[in-house]
Amino acid sequence: MARHLITSAIPYINGIKHLGNLVGSQLPGDLYARYLRQRGHEVLYLCATDEHGTPAELAAAKAGKPVAEYCAELHDVQAEIAAGFRLSFDHFGRSSSPQNHKLTQAFAARLADMGLIREVTEEQVYSVADGRFLPDRYIEGTCPNCGFESARGDQCDNCTKQLDPTDLINPHSTISGSTELEVRETKHLYLRQSELKDDLAKWIDSKKDWPILTTSIAKKWLNDGDGLQDRGITRDLDWGVPVQKGEAPWPGMEGKVFYVWFDAPIEYIACAQEWQDAGKGSDWERWWRTDKGADDVTYTQFMGKDNVPFHTLSFPATILGSQEPWKLVDYIKSFNYLNYDGGQFSTSRGRGVFMDQALAILPADYWRWWLLSHAPETSDAEFTWANFQTDVNKDLADVLGNFVSRITKFCRSKFSEAVPEGVAYGAAEEKLIADLTKRIRAYEDHMDAIEVRKAAAELRAIWVLGNEYLQAGAPWTTFKTDPDTAAMQVRLGLNLIRLYAVLSAPFIPDAAAQMLDAMQTEKADWPADIGAALQTLPAGHAFTVPENLFRKITDDERDDWQTRFAGTRD
Ligand code: MF3
Ligand code: ZN
Repeated sequence: MARHLITSAIPYINGIKHLGNLVGSQLPGDLYARYLRQRGHEVLYLCATDEHGTPAELAAAKAGKPVAEYCAELHDVQAEIAAGFRLSFDHFGRSSSPQNHKLTQAFAARLADMGLIREVTEEQVYSVADGRFLPDRYIEGTCPNCGFESARGDQCDNCTKQLDPTDLINPHSTISGSTELEVRETKHLYLRQSELKDDLAKWIDSKKDWPILTTSIAKKWLNDGDGLQDRGITRDLDWGVPVQKGEAPWPGMEGKVFYVWFDAPIEYIACAQEWQDAGKGSDWERWWRTDKGADDVTYTQFMGKDNVPFHTLSFPATILGSQEPWKLVDYIKSFNYLNYDGGQFSTSRGRGVFMDQALAILPADYWRWWLLSHAPETSDAEFTWANFQTDVNKDLADVLGNFVSRITKFCRSKFSEAVPEGVAYGAAEEKLIADLTKRIRAYEDHMDAIEVRKAAAELRAIWVLGNEYLQAGAPWTTFKTDPDTAAMQVRLGLNLIRLYAVLSAPFIPDAAAQMLDAMQTEKADWPADIGAALQTLPAGHAFTVPENLFRKITDDERDDWQTRFAGTRD
């Protein structure tokens, strides 16, 4: 039994996330957490809302609410939707928590003590019309790197380059739209990341097993020096963690806050404290301090590719620079983008399916299955309604659902609602057990390696084996001449339903629970010996015929949804 710390990139507070966000960080993190728990490992799976910075301030202003109130509300909304998707966080925290305030200020003080912070008087964009500085998302313009016209002041969404507001071409204020901008002097703190370049390069080079997507992005920013220019870690904003040197004031920095990307990853640590303070666990340092036992922990992070520079360079710079015994990440699983029906998901244009809308039209398992089995691992992936309908109907309704329903209904009609006995397993069953064993071991290997698509394909193949067995054995025919053999086939089939429930639970937890329930068993331990696992439910064990596990998506629904989610302001 090992110990696994898992975090999913913490979603911005500014509204409900779309399915592309979900599949890039929270959903695969949950899959992995569930799998490892089922395998008997000790898991701490953390996520939170990312509440500071301009996105939060802008969204609150748009909603006409004080930002603290807006964040508290949206946190609860996001927590509820996460629960609806069965995301099994041990704690869903908030980057605005007192724990994170304190820890962020402590990190800054420590980095200053280590000589890694310099104070810079610099020129920043000031909006005359708005009467304020315009950090990050308060300013937009053309990306100097790729020419994308709606690049934000902190990052270009098109080419992922990290930017400063003064880099933008033809900038305008996103508050008023004003282009009456001037450059004024203000003082800020910079983290001297460049000092840590060699340490970071050595660390990243040692990660031979990381996905290529992760290391290629990290090395790109490392080697062209871009990601490792010293970075401003403070902002002229009201909402955020006040700039302090630990508990003490920071002279000259009054009224400023830390940059959201400085405090957000620190929330991964603070979240463990929140988890403890909420009474959900104890000894948080055991997960995060290598001097308190965390050197036994395997730490895995999940995120979309736009987050990779911050997790491979900026946050590790904070950790390494502190020279304190904090746990560094062991494995970074990153994802490409999921596109929507020939374009991008767009929050501003309401294009695509958002998490609350998804749950309003279909249960979580349909989405979990499709999204995970199409996870954008090696390239961008695309959601289309036609593909969603075809794959969900085939995999969930025709293959898995049909198997469960055929076996249970046949047993009820020809035998009873209890496992029949019949003869002992024979050659066909031994062959099935051998095939299943091979595939289940491959499934485990893919899950261990967090190869999400491959794991889904293997699970689907495991379901298919059951249908092929039924098709070949045809108990409904066998029953007429040899009821004892038919009884045995049904006994195996019912045991297979239990086994499928166990194996499928990380992907489709609700259906899995329904299957276990129908089999009236709580025996859900991960199968070591497949032959033995298929003897778990003995003859005479009662079961019930479950409600249809999965219904089919109709053509009318498909067309209706396609129109409904096409976006309003294209
Ligand atoms: N809120 C960011 C996003 O959605 C992710 C922050 S991850 C953390 O892209 F490292 F900062 F925590
Ligand atoms: Zn760009």
